Amino acid sequence: MVILVTGGAGYIGSHTCLELLRAGHQVIVVDNLCNSSREAVNRVEKLAGKSIIFYQADVTDEAALAAIFAQHTNIDGIIHFAGLKAVGESVVKPQQYYYNNIVGTLVLSKMMAQFGIKNIVFSSSATVYGENEIPFVETMSLGVPTNPYGQTKLMSEQILKDMAVAHQEWSVVLLRYFNPVGAHESGQIGEAPQGIPNNLMPFISQVAAGRLEKLNIFGNDYPTPDGTCIRDYIHVCDLAEGHVRALEKLADKSGVHVYNLGTGQGTSVMQLLTAFERVNQLHVPYTIAPRRAGDIAAFYADASKAERELGWRAVRDIEAMCRDTWRWQTMNSHGYD
Ligand code: NAD
Ligand code: WQD
Repeated sequence: MVILVTGGAGYIGSHTCLELLRAGHQVIVVDNLCNSSREAVNRVEKLAGKSIIFYQADVTDEAALAAIFAQHTNIDGIIHFAGLKAVGESVVKPQQYYYNNIVGTLVLSKMMAQFGIKNIVFSSSATVYGENEIPFVETMSLGVPTNPYGQTKLMSEQILKDMAVAHQEWSVVLLRYFNPVGAHESGQIGEAPQGIPNNLMPFISQVAAGRLEKLNIFGNDYPTPDGTCIRDYIHVCDLAEGHVRALEKLADKSGVHVYNLGTGQGTSVMQLLTAFERVNQLHVPYTIAPRRAGDIAAFYADASKAERELGWRAVRDIEAMCRDTWRWQTMNSHGYD
C-alpha cells in the first residue's frame, strides 16, 4: 500500500514508518518539523534500506496538502500522527492546540473526501477515557478530558466518527495509545524531547545521563501498592507494529474501528525507576515531590480486542523498554542534534 504518514518524523511516526517500509509499503511523510528533525527520516531510510518521500508541510495548510494529494494519486491510506502533545503546554496555549490538532484533522478529512481516500488511522490516546474504571476498555463511555490536549483527541475522534457516517465507504481506525516509551533496538531512532521532558521515561533517562539532577516523583500517597501512580507503558516498536497490523487488517473494511494499544500490565513510577536502574546497572537519584495536577492514580488497558481482532499484542517487556531507552540515550546524548 501507499501510505501518507502525517507527523512521520516524530517519535511514534518514525518507528511506524520503519515498520511500514519493512512490511513492504511505500511511505510519504508530511511533517512541519515543529517537534522533530528531518534526520529521523534519514535514519529510518538507512535502517530500512528504502526511501521515503518527504514533504515539510503543515497539515493545517490546505493548499499545501491539496498539492501533495494531487501529486500522489495512488495513496491508499493515511496515518495521522501530526499533532501537538504536551498536556501542560496545552493548558497555557489552548488556542494553538485546538487550532493545530483540530484543523489538521479537518483538513485531512477534507482531502480524503476530495481525493477519494477511504482509509485513515488516527493517533488517539487513553486520555479520552478520563478517570474511569480500570482496565480501560473500548466499550466504556468516554470521560471528560481535563486539559485542551485531551479535548483535541476526543474531538478529533468525534469528527472522524461523523465523517464515517457521511462517507459509509470509509474505514476509520482510532488507536488509543497508553504510555509509549522505548526506542528502536538499533539505537538510531527514539524520542527526542525539546527542553525538559514532561514524560517519565525520558526524564529518568536524562537524569541517568547526568543532564538533569534528579527525578521528581509526583506523589507517593496514591492508593496504589507503593503509593506511586500506575500506568501501562508500551514499547514504541510494539505500537508501530500495531499500526501496520491495523492498516493491513482494516483497510477497506468500512466503519469505525477502535482499539486500545497497551500491554494490559500496570507498572508504578517506582517500579519503572527501579527496573531502569537494575537493567542498565546505574543509579537514578530521585526525590518525592507533590502530586502533579490532573494525574490519575492508576490506569492500564484491556488490550484483548486488538489481540482478538487484529492478532496483535505487545511482546516487549519493561526490561526491553528500559534497555532500549538507555541505548538510544547513550548513542544520541542530545537527540538528533
Ligand atoms: P511527536 O511530537 O514526536 O510527533 C508529532 C509529529 O507531528 C512531529 O514530528 C511534529 O513535528 C509533527 N506535527 C505537529 N503538528 C504538525 C502540523 N500541524 N503539521 C505537520 N506536522 C506536525 O509526538 P509522538 O509522541 O510521536 O505522538 C504522535 C501522535 O500520537 C500525536 O498525535 C500524539 O498526540 C499521539 N499520542 C502520543 C502519545 C505519547 O505519549 N507519545 C500518547 C498518545 C497519543
Ligand atoms: C507517568 C507517571 C506522573 C514525570 C501523558 C499524557 C497522556 C499520554 C501519555 C498523549 C505519572 C509520573 C512523570 C516526572 C513523575 N500522552 N511522573 N515525574 O501523564 O500518564 O500521560 O503521556 O496522549 O495523554 O497525559 O505520562 O509520562 O507524564 O507520567 O513522577 O518527572 O509518571 O506523575 O504518574 P501520563 P507521564
